[in-house]
Amino acid sequence: MAFMSSRNKDKFILGIETSCDETAASVLRPPKEVLSDVVSSQIDVHSHYGGVVPELASRHHLKNIVWVVDKALRDASVGLDDIGCVAVTQGPGLVGALVVGLSFGKAISATRGLALVGVNHVHAHLHAIFLEDVHIQFPYIGVIVSGGHTAIYIVRGELDYELLGQTRDDAAGEAFDKVAKVLGLPYPGGPIIGKLATQGDPNRFHFPRARLRATPYDFSFSGLKTSVINTIRSLQQSSPGDVPVADIAASFQEAVCDVIVEKALMASKDTGIGTIVLSGGVASNKRLRDLFHERCKARGISFMVPERRLCTDNAAMIAALGARLWMHGKTIGLDADVYSRGV
Ligand code: KG4
Ligand code: ZN
Repeated sequence: MAFMSSRNKDKFILGIETSCDETAASVLRPPKEVLSDVVSSQIDVHSHYGGVVPELASRHHLKNIVWVVDKALRDASVGLDDIGCVAVTQGPGLVGALVVGLSFGKAISATRGLALVGVNHVHAHLHAIFLEDVHIQFPYIGVIVSGGHTAIYIVRGELDYELLGQTRDDAAGEAFDKVAKVLGLPYPGGPIIGKLATQGDPNRFHFPRARLRATPYDFSFSGLKTSVINTIRSLQQSSPGDVPVADIAASFQEAVCDVIVEKALMASKDTGIGTIVLSGGVASNKRLRDLFHERCKARGISFMVPERRLCTDNAAMIAALGARLWMHGKTIGLDADVYSRGV
């Protein structure tokens, strides 16, 4: 196994993220000192459509990537001469969007003779906790809840992930976004539903929790989503103008959170692993964080979640995992392709 050469040991790493609707770049001094963290969101572009439009996402990455990377270097007060490695999200995500970041990373790597590493976006979410000042012991149960992925892992080492289960249909964040759309709320729906839910009654509606006995660590949110949408539609017909939006938001959020926490606790119990780490965009949901804290504390399980900014898409987590891959000599060549799937 090739390790980082001594020539590179004082060099920084440039992280680039373009897997969905955030163009992001970050400069990191390995292993975890974030010198800059720039995120340019395309929410305004996609909110009119109620979800991410892949072609528009690619075009906006193309438009923004130069200034985003330039700002990350400036904010860190470094130049490309100080960079030893470029870490780019290689997948999973939107192909056209990933291609922009990977091509840009290849161009920098080729022209400056820098190492290039391809980072798995979901593994980077799992790794985000290492940017916090915490002491983590392996193995731990890693739970990723985002707009594109919902999955539970046993994390045995920094680069050693065993997938226990994942969603069979919608991701948790996708369910938030779709329910919000039916309620007439803009994309992304998660933060707005989270806010509305604080005013609502989580017990007003009892929405289904899919338990999937044969594959207990897998998730399914499509039945829940359909049940919520049917409830909204029938209320819109029976009492138009008087739909209890806050109660629906709170009851829906409770069902999603309940199922995620329950499966994570089951994984902890079945494996005897006493630490759970949560991340991904939906991990910024206050109710989910509170419920994890509450139920883990009651069972003597240690629970960790990164600060909100590190839960949603960012390039610091790409650079952080990229630094580990670089250290272990796991570089990619200029012929590397992106991948749309794979957790
Ligand atoms: O991890 P992320 O930034 O991007 C992906 O990799 O998908 O996650 C974005 C998702 C969106 O579906 C958004 O609605 C959801 O995270 N989200 C939330 C909250 N903040 C973002 N969901 C529930 N509550 C929130 N506070
Ligand atoms: Zn993500």
